[in-house]
Amino acid sequence: MSERYIPKENEIPPQYIDLWDRHDRTVDQTLWDDVISLAESEEGTPQAERGIYKDIPLATLVALAERARGEKDPIKRYEMALEESPNGELWFDVLAGFTSDSVILRMKRQIAHYLGQEGKEGWKRGLDLGTGTGRLAKVLAEDCDSFIALDRVPAMIKEARSTDDDSVQYLVGDVTALPLKSEGFDLITSVGISGSLNKEQEIAFYTNIARVLEEGGVYYDGYYSDQLWDIGSHPGGDSSKLHPETRQHLASAKGILADMIVDTVSGKNEKIERLNRRELDELFARLGLAETRVELNQYGVGFRQLEKNREKFRRMHSGYSRSGEVS
Ligand SMILES: C[S@@+](CC[C@H](N)C(=O)[O-])C[C@H]1O[C@@H](n2cnc3c(N)ncnc32)[C@H](O)[C@@H]1O
Repeated sequence: MSERYIPKENEIPPQYIDLWDRHDRTVDQTLWDDVISLAESEEGTPQAERGIYKDIPLATLVALAERARGEKDPIKRYEMALEESPNGELWFDVLAGFTSDSVILRMKRQIAHYLGQEGKEGWKRGLDLGTGTGRLAKVLAEDCDSFIALDRVPAMIKEARSTDDDSVQYLVGDVTALPLKSEGFDLITSVGISGSLNKEQEIAFYTNIARVLEEGGVYYDGYYSDQLWDIGSHPGGDSSKLHPETRQHLASAKGILADMIVDTVSGKNEKIERLNRRELDELFARLGLAETRVELNQYGVGFRQLEKNREKFRRMHSGYSRSGEVS
């Protein structure tokens, strides 16, 4: 990705924030038209020259958006993300949002913190779900005796494998029907996938995780939330502040367009019904998973920690812990 320019809050015109807000709510033809025409009007101005997409011609972004919108098969859409962009890098690495350094860093820190807290040296068997190009898997494998990374897109697995030194075993498979035997893993992770699953897929996803997690094992789900109202409605959040990754998108209209492409490829743009908080609680309780930590910081980096631990589960459900945090 080219050099990052992060505009200050007061440098972002309200029109951009309005479009960003709209793209998080409903993506329709009018929004695509509005964002593309704003990007066209920016062409040749300093605004277009300063964002992270300054070396990506608008026409190629528009063409990619059209192809992604016209492709119903999510696997083929992710194959598009692995094509080379005009600057020679893969679209997956060029378009901010397919993966996030901040989320990956936060997950690694939290997982290391957990190890220290539990007095453990490392993990026996790790599993990363929806691994993409395997960025988190390669980092976590260092602390695991063995590590499996899974994705349903064969081209993604091929790409992940091509940049690895055999520390990870790669597998093509669907997270809603894991091709793995029961109860083998003490660490399971996923980043940037749970938000694109619908209700039925979420249920299958968590059921599979509970099945392959051994007693005492932990699952981490990491995500990046660019939803301004999420941050605002979260304790300690401040909706009047845009976090840096969001401001980076808003450096130019191409940034908004790029994020809409990422959401189209991942399926986040489709109107999907997701489990609400109560349904998630019920599901976790039914599966014997204790939600021992949930976090969403002011930079939009979030994660959830679920443990398959009878003792913690019992304490949590007997009203022992009031804070929701069990250690
Ligand atoms: C937004 S990318 C994140 C990739 C990676 N976790 C990262 O953070 O760099 C989501 C990944 O999940 C994969 N994926 C989506 N749905 C899946 C499913 N049902 N089963 C397996 N992989 C899936 C996609 O192919 C893609 O590689």
